[in-house]
Amino acid sequence: MKYEDYVHIGYKPSKSDLICEFYMEPSKGVPLKRAMGAIAAESSTGTWTELTTVKPYMKKLAATVFEMQKTKRGAYIRIAYPIELFEPGNMPNILSSVAGNIFGMKDLKYLRMEDIILPKRIATSFKGPKYGIKGVRKIFRKKTPLIGTIVKPKLGLKSKDHAKVAYEAWVGGCDIVKDDENLSSQSFNRFSQRLRTTLRYKRKAEKETGERKGYMINVTAETMEMLKRKDLVADFGNEYIMIDIITEGWGALQTLRDKSRSRVIHAHRAGHAAFTKIKYHGIAMPVICTIARTIGVDQIHVGTAVGKMIEGKKEVLENVDACKRKYYNIKPVMPVASGGLNPNHVPALHKIFGNDVIIQMGGGIHGHPKGTRAGAKAARDAIDAVMQGIPLKEYPSKELQMAIKRWG
Ligand code: 3PG
Ligand code: 3PG
Ligand code: MG
Repeated sequence: MKYEDYVHIGYKPSKSDLICEFYMEPSKGVPLKRAMGAIAAESSTGTWTELTTVKPYMKKLAATVFEMQKTKRGAYIRIAYPIELFEPGNMPNILSSVAGNIFGMKDLKYLRMEDIILPKRIATSFKGPKYGIKGVRKIFRKKTPLIGTIVKPKLGLKSKDHAKVAYEAWVGGCDIVKDDENLSSQSFNRFSQRLRTTLRYKRKAEKETGERKGYMINVTAETMEMLKRKDLVADFGNEYIMIDIITEGWGALQTLRDKSRSRVIHAHRAGHAAFTKIKYHGIAMPVICTIARTIGVDQIHVGTAVGKMIEGKKEVLENVDACKRKYYNIKPVMPVASGGLNPNHVPALHKIFGNDVIIQMGGGIHGHPKGTRAGAKAARDAIDAVMQGIPLKEYPSKELQMAIKRWG
């Protein structure tokens, strides 16, 4: 088959096909049909030349470009992939086909995967989230947005000081405290020491406030070491683990989910923008959300719309949709807004996300003029104000008013 033979506009995909949506621009001088066909061919059974080794029984395995919408420079296309092309329960394998060689082909100037729809038999061959939105809510017994912080400075604090910052945040009003994405087990703050000490302070904070508190400790490491850390977290009875899903890799994330019977998995997406940021090339964030949801994370960072992260409201809502849209019997994932946020952002965040969100503030809590505890109280009071329909400026909280003055 030539590249062009993989294009059949109007073809009706089978219910069991895997469907991908791409934006593509052909390279100069390459006909559109050839470039589109190249994507379908190289991501399924084809290559640059016709082969002598093809067997008649392979005919049904070819992917098909079945929809095309021309744009000024290229086209949006949809490709249907027969289910037999993939090994169920093997995300790296699936992505090596549909998100593999095709990104580097000379015939294409740009290529961006906009969406992926896995057929039921493949989607449900993965574990999916154990908890998802409902399960997370159950832990904290709360219907409002949850408020979290990232211990800052992101690197450098010794375990004891890390734990004390976490404690201050919890008693000030945070539901959740998390490690930063680049904290693992550095010499100044070893993983096991941090786990032990921070959990001691967590129990103290729970006792003093009468509330459930969460500690999302970052287990990101080489796979075997990551699993050891996951086990240690389980031994200590902590509900949460956090993992940097992009740098850890999809295979390792699957391993973590498969081996993790009862931890809540918080997914940090550090590094995603290397392929999600440019609008005409790479992989869109909703695809990342869908993959992570399929494998089975319970929470994922989706951007903030109003903070320091790149996405605007439209993109954030697309990410949220990928977390929450109907997806067979696979649970919705709790969206996390994190990056450059402070209490002033809470009303806007609530408008965008509604109640199903974890709002995390690092600098916006630990940068409060009166310190972490006051910063956490300001953040919590901002949530309370919004839930009561009171404008932040009118809410009787001196900590919140100070935060408004500092960052408003
Ligand atoms: C165990 O050792 O008990 C299991 O690994 C527990 O892990 P989990 O419930 O996260 O995963
Ligand atoms: C994160 O890990 O999400 C960031 O550390 C957020 O930190 P910031 O609120 O200080 O931007
Ligand atoms: Mg961070």
